[in-house]
Amino acid sequence: MNIILLGPPGAGKGTQAQLMVARYHIPQISTGDILRESVRKETPLGMKAKSYMEKGQLVPDEVVIGIVEERLNDSDCHSGFILDGFPRTIPQAEALQKILQKMEKTLDHVLNIEVDPEELVRRLTGRRTCKLCGAMYHVIFSPPKDKDLCDRCGGPLYQREDDREETIRMRLKEYERQTAPLIQYYQTKGLLRSIDGIGTQSQIFDRIVQTIERRSF
Ligand code: AP5
Ligand code: MG
Repeated sequence: MNIILLGPPGAGKGTQAQLMVARYHIPQISTGDILRESVRKETPLGMKAKSYMEKGQLVPDEVVIGIVEERLNDSDCHSGFILDGFPRTIPQAEALQKILQKMEKTLDHVLNIEVDPEELVRRLTGRRTCKLCGAMYHVIFSPPKDKDLCDRCGGPLYQREDDREETIRMRLKEYERQTAPLIQYYQTKGLLRSIDGIGTQSQIFDRIVQTIERRSF
């Protein structure tokens, strides 16, 4: 099953992707996570991406497309993948189509998680992530037992650099300008499924499962 998770910053793409990995046993490919890891390790890719990410801007298409092409060719993607945060521009979507054609694969579902802007800001400003295992929390909506430590592995929790209010505003603007046009793009291809992103994490997951499994039969 080959899936794209579309949606603005803070819509819950990462949260839902983790739940989907557990149910469908296919990998999550988060370009944001790959880029953050490269920044942390100070690799050449990380050096290139850092200044864009800090400002809440998109990293240039050619950089991100290369990463995704390489990752999709890994053996764990043979039976499917969940793209989280890619594509994010029309040129990225067109490049993805070419990559998949080369691999003789097609997309099964593009799930667009819809959440209003005020809720997005609330979710992003309260997000905390585990440095070791990547588990996600929210200080109000899904707080960890100890505010500084991960319930799952005991690792330290941190706040993402780009989750400051000013950077969040820029990310939302970039989303409207560059990523929202993908909704129409995938609608025209008949692949788009809208998911109401308001509710508890498990309610939203149930909606995703129903949508995917209804369309698979
Ligand atoms: P990326 O890491 O992809 O960030 P994003 O798209 O801005 O999305 P987020 O990860 O912030 O949100 P999410 O939808 O995953 O929500 P989450 O599940 O965490 O990209 C970061 C940067 O990298 C970009 O700005 C860009 O610079 C660069 N980049 C990445 N991909 C790129 C690309 N393809 N091209 C160019 N540049 C690229 O949830 C958020 C919070 O809400 C959490 O605290 C969570 O616990 C909470 N929450 C989740 N669900 C619920 C719920 N139902 N109710 C209440 N709270 C909830
Ligand atoms: Mg994410």
